[in-house]
Amino acid sequence: MDYLSGANNNFTGNIPSFICALCTLTILDLSNNQFNGSIPRCMGNFSSTLRTLNLRKNRLSGDLPENISASVKSLDIGHNQLVGKLPRSLVHISFLEVFNVESNIINDTFPFWLSSLQELQVLVLRSNAFHGQIGQARFSKLRIIDISSNHFNGTLPSDCFENWTAMLSLGKKEDQFNGEYMGT
Ligand SMILES: *[C@@H]1O[C@H](CO)[C@@H](O)[C@H](O)[C@H]1NC(C)=O
Ligand SMILES: *[C@@H]1O[C@H](CO)[C@@H](O)[C@H](O)[C@H]1NC(C)=O
Repeated sequence: MDYLSGANNNFTGNIPSFICALCTLTILDLSNNQFNGSIPRCMGNFSSTLRTLNLRKNRLSGDLPENISASVKSLDIGHNQLVGKLPRSLVHISFLEVFNVESNIINDTFPFWLSSLQELQVLVLRSNAFHGQIGQARFSKLRIIDISSNHFNGTLPSDCFENWTAMLSLGKKEDQFNGEYMGT
């Protein structure tokens, strides 16, 4: 099986771990349900072909999974009740393009270390408990960043956005991409 969507239902209980036996999945979408409990530990890396993992808008709690499959391009776990810090193992998801953790209770400092993800284009941290100063980071392909409704403080240094080259260019491709992102 390549594609499994159970999105937009009223499923409850834990995310079933039988899903972790579907080792050729490329897209898993369980968004907009009422799954609760923690994300099964096996969920991150059960499929080496997984491209999209969407668990948005559930009632999931606990920490984010470690060791998410390096093949993932889009990871959306927004609108849950996840706590803790962002796992530093996220830097191994080399092809990650979209990362959305909005509206959780993640308590961490600004993840400047995510700038080592060369393909990252969308980073949404809004409505969590991120705190501290922003500092300088080189997000070369980033097009959309939303860090609103957290507890960041300090100044925004003028060199902070210096190397965010994708944001300095204009053109049709960007418009198309933004449209797609907003559409999803
Ligand atoms: C997933 O990662 C865990 C370590 O967190 C490892 O023990 C396991 O073998 C990995 N599974 C796959 C399918 O890569
Ligand atoms: C975040 O964690 C720190 C301790 O590491 C704690 O002092 C602080 O209250 C936490 N913030 C929130 C909003 O939970």
